[in-house]
Formats: sequence, structure tokens, C-alpha cells
Amino acid sequence: MPNLPPVRTLLLCCLAGLPLASQAEPSAERGRYLVQVAGCNDCHTAGYILAPDQVPESAWLLGDSLGWSGPWGTTYASNLRLVLPKLSEEQWLQLARNANYRPPMPSHALRIMEEDDLRSIHRFAKQLGEAGQPAPAALPPGQTAQGPVVQFPMPPAQ
Ligand code: HEC
Repeated sequence: MPNLPPVRTLLLCCLAGLPLASQAEPSAERGRYLVQVAGCNDCHTAGYILAPDQVPESAWLLGDSLGWSGPWGTTYASNLRLVLPKLSEEQWLQLARNANYRPPMPSHALRIMEEDDLRSIHRFAKQLGEAGQPAPAALPPGQTAQGPVVQFPMPPAQ
């Protein structure tokens, strides 16, 4: 006999309109998990990629002054705690679905991320709260950054 849920459980789930498989609900706690495993902290939290255990949660997602230089110019990972909490959850979904930022921001990850996961990240950022300063403004190609940068190779000359 396969391991089926008892009839009573099936009935209760149907009546309550609940899915039988356990499904993650959006939550700040899940958002906390996602910003770690989806890499958001790696770029949007200063020092995190080198020593993830040493950066307190209070410093997460505050952006970074480490520049990323390449053919697109120089970009800086934004302070997400000044961006996400200002948006409603619906505005955030809209922004994420249309994400088209410069490298190395993985815009594609935001575009394809499941809605519940996006909602969870938004709730977590809101829970962390607004704090910090905006990251330095991006520089156009050809302009030299003042601070440290990660230099991507230029495309081979045609
Ligand atoms: C490899 C580094 C990297 C990773 C990983 C990364 N980001 Fe970014 N992100 C950036 C950079 C750099 C920018 C600025 C891009 C620009 O200026 O065009 C950015 C910009 C953004 C923006 C635009 C904010 C604004 O200023 O309006 C959002 C939203 C964002 N990231 C969310 C996320 C989320 C959520 C994750 C995790 C799923 C994530 N990022 C992972 C580097 C990264």
C-alpha cells in the first residue's frame, strides 16, 4: 500500500483549499534565507563575500563602495535598504519583473524569481529597515573610479 495521506487529511485539505504538498508562504524569514543563498548579500553587503559569518545582519544589504568596472563603465551594488522598503510589494514585483541593470547585477535572476520568493525578499528588506547611505553613483565607460574596483576584461578588439 503506497503511503497516501489518510482520507480525513485529504478531505480537510480540500475543504480548506490547502495544497497537499507543503508550499512555502512568503515570509521575512524565507527572505532572510534567500538573500544568503541567492547571492544578494555577496554583492549588496560590504565584506560579505570574503567573511559571511563576520558581517552582522544589521549591516546586510546596505550596498557597497567596491566598484565593478568593465565595458559598461563602473557600477556599485545599491543600498537595497533604501530601495526596497520605499516600494510597495506590488511595485517591487513590477520592478523585479522588468529588471535590466548593468553588470554584474544578475537581472535575469530577478526576472525569473518566483513571486513568493520576491515577496519574501521584500518583507525581509522591510524588516531590516531603512538605513545607510546610497552607494556611489555609477560611472560611464572611460571614466576612472576613485576607489577600489573589480576589473572585468574588455571585449577583444574587433
Ligand atoms: C554579482 C553582484 C550582484 C549580485 C549577486 C546581486 N546584485 Fe543587485 N546589483 C548589483 C549591482 C552592481 C547593481 C547596480 C547596477 C547598475 O548600476 O546598473 C545592482 C542593482 C540592484 C538593484 C537596483 C536597485 C536600484 O538602485 O534601484 C536591485 C533591486 C538589486 N540589485 C537586487 C538584487 C537582489 C534582490 C539580489 C539577490 C537575488 C541581487 N541584487 C544580487 C550587483 C549584484
